[in-house]
Amino acid sequence: MYDSEAETYEDRYQGFEGRYLTELETNYIIELIDTTTGSVLDIGTGGGRFVRVLNRTGQYSQLVGLDVSAEMLKQSKTRSPHDFVRGDASQLPFTSNTFDLVTAIGIFEYIEDLVPLLRDINRVLAPQGQLVFTVHNQHRLFPRLGEWAPQQYDVALHSLPDVRFQLMVAGFTDTEITSTFYFNEYVWAGIPILETISQRLSRVYLETTISVQHCLASLPWTRHSGGQFIVSAKVPVTQSFE
Ligand SMILES: C[S@@+](CC[C@H](N)C(=O)[O-])C[C@H]1O[C@@H](n2cnc3c(N)ncnc32)[C@H](O)[C@@H]1O
Repeated sequence: MYDSEAETYEDRYQGFEGRYLTELETNYIIELIDTTTGSVLDIGTGGGRFVRVLNRTGQYSQLVGLDVSAEMLKQSKTRSPHDFVRGDASQLPFTSNTFDLVTAIGIFEYIEDLVPLLRDINRVLAPQGQLVFTVHNQHRLFPRLGEWAPQQYDVALHSLPDVRFQLMVAGFTDTEITSTFYFNEYVWAGIPILETISQRLSRVYLETTISVQHCLASLPWTRHSGGQFIVSAKVPVTQSFE
């Protein structure tokens, strides 16, 4: 599916809105990652955007990106020198207990039943290994706007109890969930308008909305109402799927 958009996919992260989304998402994801050494697998790596984000921390001994799309992998290989492997997320081509951290950013929205995939991720993670992923919130605003929404929603949406339950069934523990884009969906339309008024004003707008979202995400009553959940879960010390 992504083969046809591979050449231009990374362009979406270059413009004002793309940089806004990347910065926002990255900050939230990094906050949840407490595995700061060892080897990392990024599932659904696309153009390798998140492999490059993690590489900038300089903390990990090995970074591997996996994607089902050969064209996306071609793009990722031109952008960084890490290991990029072709494969399907539900049948990971790695032996058990290989990684300390698995990330999966922007891929779980293509999967309705997360359990088989989560089980396989559990298998390739070492004991106490960490999984961090994003998933779309079933109760987000955009799908409810129908044709008025700025983007179409033919993606899998999940509720918080549903995500927690699927993680538990797949043998994960210590689940932590935050959400992003709480305000974003309501102010989206303002971004291009402000951008045309002034580049400088746009930057102020960007920084203000990111700060507002960070404040909102720290409040117990707003942290689970965003458009997208960012989830962290761990493999228990003693569990093994071998
Ligand atoms: C929205 S893109 C996200 C790319 C990247 N993680 C990022 O944040 O820039 C989703 C990626 O998941 C990949 N993908 C979708 N289903 C997959 C599967 N079953 N196994 C592996 N990769 C998959 C697509 O080829 C695409 O590159």
